[in-house]
Amino acid sequence: MSSQKHARDPKCPLCGVRLDRFVLDQEGVPVLIRGACPDDKDKLVAFYERLSNETIYTRFFSIVRYFEPYVERILNGPAYVIVAEREDTGEIIAVAEAVPNSDGTAAEAGIVVLEKYQGRGIGKRIAYALSRVLWERGVRRVVGYILPGNIKAYRLVKKLGGRIKSYYESLLYVEIPVRPGPANGKTGEPAGTGS
Ligand SMILES: CC(C)(COP(=O)(O)OP(=O)(O)OC[C@H]1O[C@@H](n2cnc3c(N)ncnc32)[C@H](O)[C@@H]1OP(=O)(O)O)[C@@H](O)C(=O)NCCC(=O)NCCS
Repeated sequence: MSSQKHARDPKCPLCGVRLDRFVLDQEGVPVLIRGACPDDKDKLVAFYERLSNETIYTRFFSIVRYFEPYVERILNGPAYVIVAEREDTGEIIAVAEAVPNSDGTAAEAGIVVLEKYQGRGIGKRIAYALSRVLWERGVRRVVGYILPGNIKAYRLVKKLGGRIKSYYESLLYVEIPVRPGPANGKTGEPAGTGS
């Protein structure tokens, strides 16, 4: 796990913060969801470089090949970045990030899970963790874009109580209210959600 040496640095608000911990299905993989920090740069670049073209496209709507500038930007900018990491190997298997708007009440978010781990509940767990982080920091609305036909992302949006607001350049523009959520995606869900 990353060190907590930045924990008091305002530029690194989530460094070392542990948000959720669980064992993944029958494989018994121990997973920790925690705040990311600049020390995670290499691991994050490796994570993005392992994604398939299809997953990259569903997340970024284009094929990105060189992730270092992107990772530097999210780690050193105003974004809240959290990761799901295998505790046995230290491998990052999912990332969620949210960039707040100027008054900090809304944020644009994105989530991506490594293919091997998709459809196993990690998207939900990391989304709930991000939601709690945002709620505690005064963010009350999350917006984002998904491709039409991205069923997993759409179901996740619905689960979180969100809805499609409009279509924009062939993308679905979604909005999700941020609510004080449960400790994780399994023991309960925010009131009023469900697919
Ligand atoms: C979208 C994404 C983040 C969801 O995370 P995930 O770990 O795969 O999803 P989860 O296992 O938590 O499941 C989320 C929902 O999708 C449903 N789902 C999972 N796999 C599915 C499948 N193969 N077909 C249909 N629905 C599926 C789940 O049942 C769940 O809905 P429910 O709670 O109503 O049952 C992940 O699939 C991903 O990284 N996709 C590529 C990038 C992307 O599309 N990001 C979103 C745009 S920013």
